[in-house]
Amino acid sequence: MKKMVVLSGAGMSAESGVSTFRGAGGLWDKYPVEEVATPQGYAANPGLVINFYNERRRQLLDVEPNKGHELIAELEKEFNVTVVTQNIDNLHERAGSSKVIHLHGELTKVCSSYAPNDPRYIKKLSPEEYEIKIGDLAPDGSQYRPYIVWFGEAVPKIEEAIQYVEQADIFLIIGTSMNVYPAAGLLNYVSSRIPVYLIDPNEVNVNSNGHKIHVIRKVASEGMEELMKLLSEKEKV
Ligand code: APR
Repeated sequence: MKKMVVLSGAGMSAESGVSTFRGAGGLWDKYPVEEVATPQGYAANPGLVINFYNERRRQLLDVEPNKGHELIAELEKEFNVTVVTQNIDNLHERAGSSKVIHLHGELTKVCSSYAPNDPRYIKKLSPEEYEIKIGDLAPDGSQYRPYIVWFGEAVPKIEEAIQYVEQADIFLIIGTSMNVYPAAGLLNYVSSRIPVYLIDPNEVNVNSNGHKIHVIRKVASEGMEELMKLLSEKEKV
C-alpha cells in the first residue's frame, strides 16, 4: 500500500463546530493567546488556563466528527495513512483513524507541570472527568496541567512526524493556515517527487519549496470528497 500522510489543522474540525484559532471569530480573538496558551500565562494564572482547557474539553462532549474526518479514516482502505494533526481534539480517532500523531497535545489528557512530557505522569481522562481543578496533583507532586504544547514549548512529537513525512508517497494538507512552526515546516521533508494536495476554503500561503501543490479550495468535507475521486482515478495502490 502507498503511504499517505495527512497534516491537519483547526479547519478540519470547523464543520464539527470547533472554533479555529485565527481569523474573525477565532479563539485567539476571544482569549489572549499569551494568557491561555503559554507557560508564562500558566505560571501567572494557572486557574484561568486550567478552566480554559476544561471548557474546550467539555465542548468535545457535544461535537462529532464530520464527513471530512470520516473520509480520512476511510482512506485506510486504500492507503497506509498517518494523520499528523495540530488539533487537540479527538475527532480523527473518533472517526476511526488508527494512526494519529498529535503535535500540539491532546485535550483528553493531563500531565505533570514539572515534566509535561514524562509518560509516567500523562493521564487520560475519561469523558465524565472532563474537569481538572487546582489541587489535582500528578504523582510527582505537581499540579496536573493540560497535556497541551503551548507557544514557546518544545514539540517533541515532531521527530516522529518527520519520519513519516519523509517516507510518504502522498501528502495532504487540510484545514491549516500553515502559520505555526514546526508543523508548517513539515512540507520541507516531503519528497519533491510525490503529489501534494491542499484542502482549504481560503487561500493559504505556503512556502511550497519547489512542490507543485494541487489546491482544492473547499471546506474539509467537500474537499475530501473531491480528493477521494481524484485519488481513485490516479493514486490507487
Ligand atoms: N474546512 C477546511 N478548512 C477550513 C474550514 C473548513 N470548514 N474553515 C476554515 N478553514 C481553514 C482556514 O481557512 C485556515 O486556513 O482552516 C485554517 C485554520 O487555521 P488556524 O486557525 O490558523 O489553525 P491551525 O493552522 O490549525 O493553527 C495551528 O496554531 O493556535 C495554534 O496550537 C494552535 O494547533 C494550532 C496551531
